[in-house]
Amino acid sequence: MPGPLDVFRDNALAGHVALITGGGTGICRGIAAAYARLGADVCIVSRKQDVLDIAAKELSAQTGRTVIGIAADVRDPEAITRAIAATVERFGKLDTLVNGAAGNFLAPAAALSPNGFKTVIDIDLNGTFNASRAAFEHLSKTGDSLILNISATLHYHGTPLQVHASAAKAGVDAVTKNLAVEWGRFKIRVCGIAPGPIAETEGMKRLAPGELTDKMTAGIPAARFGTIDEIAAAAVYLRSPAAAYVTGHVLVVDGGHCVATPALGMSFS
Ligand SMILES: NC(=O)c1ccc[n+]([C@@H]2O[C@H](COP(=O)([O-])OP(=O)(O)OC[C@H]3O[C@@H](n4cnc5c(N)ncnc54)[C@H](OP(=O)(O)O)[C@@H]3O)[C@@H](O)[C@H]2O)c1
Repeated sequence: MPGPLDVFRDNALAGHVALITGGGTGICRGIAAAYARLGADVCIVSRKQDVLDIAAKELSAQTGRTVIGIAADVRDPEAITRAIAATVERFGKLDTLVNGAAGNFLAPAAALSPNGFKTVIDIDLNGTFNASRAAFEHLSKTGDSLILNISATLHYHGTPLQVHASAAKAGVDAVTKNLAVEWGRFKIRVCGIAPGPIAETEGMKRLAPGELTDKMTAGIPAARFGTIDEIAAAAVYLRSPAAAYVTGHVLVVDGGHCVATPALGMSFS
């Protein structure tokens, strides 16, 4: 059985340059690995230079492409602007920006401090805008650019203990649609991916620790968590010519989780 990334042609992204926030770990490291495996040069960005250095070295060794890591906090518009400028300086252009940097934790709304709420909005939502705004000038020169925003499905319903992340990701989806409308004429497509629960990620370690995994799996029609490669494959599709007419769209990759009504204990076959 081929893996999710095996269907793509070798070197499908040759000559491409991508910058991926949050690309040192988890899902966005998987997107960085997939893009580099298919021939792209990649800059991964997050706050911790040591994590980025290790990831960049490993990804370069695995793929033979140039992968660099530049530390920047997406909450700081000047820092992310510098990171994007350094990427363009190094590679000569920027084709794709993936906004994946995010923070999250479980907290009842009544106990969540205003600062906790603000921090998640600052990283997920403001960070997405800051990086997109800083990348605009470079992306608009390329003639075939993509901004890919990683959101979630939390805000499709009310999700307990997630008012901060739900509000932030709802905002991210709004940014996706608005920038798609404003920047289409600059040949910049703006899309999103809304992952469901993805195995072996920091997100799921924090939000669905061991004992909750079985309960959550029971509510997923695919009867399992997704994989990092399944999200990376969606990111490759959205970057590919196959998606040239797709913009303003958020692709849900969640095994059917968000369309399933809780079965109220009924069993069916
Ligand atoms: N895991 C899931 O099942 C799931 C489900 C739905 C949506 N998602 C979304 O998918 C993305 C990746 O999630 P993940 O679970 O793979 O999480 P993760 O490994 O914790 O990735 C988050 C990344 O964001 C970076 N980051 C955090 N704050 C930052 C800041 N202020 N500036 C720059 N970088 C920052 C972190 O690196 P530093 O600490 O070095 O800054 C880290 O690399 C997120 O957008 C998440 O909301 C995940």
